[in-house]
Amino acid sequence: MGSGIHLGDPQSCCPTETEKGSRMEAKESVFRRKLVDVHGVPLFWSIAEEWGQVETFQAKPDDLLIATYPKSGTTWVSEIVDMIYNDGNVEKCKQDAIFNRVPFMELIIPGMSNGVAKLGNMPSPRLVKTHLPAQLLPKSFWESDCKIIYVARNAKDVVVSYYHFYKMAKMHPEPGNWDEFLEKFVAGEVAFGSWYDHVKGWWEKKKSHPILYLFYEDMKEDPKRELQKLAQFLEKEVTEEEANRILHHTSFEEMQKNPTSNYKMMPTAEMDHSVSPFMRKGIAGDWKNYFTVAQNEKFDKDYVDKMKESTLLFRMEI
Ligand code: A3P
Repeated sequence: MGSGIHLGDPQSCCPTETEKGSRMEAKESVFRRKLVDVHGVPLFWSIAEEWGQVETFQAKPDDLLIATYPKSGTTWVSEIVDMIYNDGNVEKCKQDAIFNRVPFMELIIPGMSNGVAKLGNMPSPRLVKTHLPAQLLPKSFWESDCKIIYVARNAKDVVVSYYHFYKMAKMHPEPGNWDEFLEKFVAGEVAFGSWYDHVKGWWEKKKSHPILYLFYEDMKEDPKRELQKLAQFLEKEVTEEEANRILHHTSFEEMQKNPTSNYKMMPTAEMDHSVSPFMRKGIAGDWKNYFTVAQNEKFDKDYVDKMKESTLLFRMEI
């Protein structure tokens, strides 16, 4: 790792005044920094700095990759897949936080987290999370022919969810006000870049690679049907009883109160749930509470232009 800034345990007791001061300094220098361009995609400064580690990540053929644009249902599908891998055993899945069971590969924050290192210490078969656009995925995933699950969510709900997430998750730059954030999102000037390029890029990759491409709205509409698709793709038998247990355990209400899936085990310095909870609303169509008529018209016009050459169709509500 490069120049490590070590924060130690943010919850630890009784730091001295000097320690408090240097922690403050370190936190300020870690959080709310400008995004840095990596091959045309804005990423957290620390991922850019450690890009060499990410690029050379060694995937294994039995790794399962869960790829998404942020705020598209990553945690939801991760919990479902982990339950399938553990034969519907709730207790096993509750042994650790979702961000340790399904490590975020490219997330490197000096002194706080390193997805590449975490995965290096994990027994196989590994579940791996990424938000990278297809063109930035480490090539070992393609060479190892790993199975990939991609979850996409309609752009309007993503931008609303992302706006709230920017406010509570401090690795992001300050979002500005809603209108400013919406402009940045449309321009692709947010972490992990353009939503439009992301969903289209992975959709294209589906033609040449084993990718199960799912939609958040379909999961909301009929979770059982989507669970069956997942089980089939993973070649796992899921009994009726297991399916019911998985569906209950991964419902929004259950995940919201489960400390191992609601991100409350993350240090407050990184994610402040009092600003906005990670498990916020979990619905389709919340964008209607945020977009003004003018914003919606402008967004739709631009959307048609950006998506016109794609066969991808999204439902903005269900
Ligand atoms: P909202 O902010 O719209 O509520 P990700 O895991 O990719 O960061 O996505 C987070 C979004 O998925 C949040 O959306 C969160 O509430 C929603 N989500 C998480 N678990 C869910 C579940 N079990 N059912 C429905 N939505 C869920």
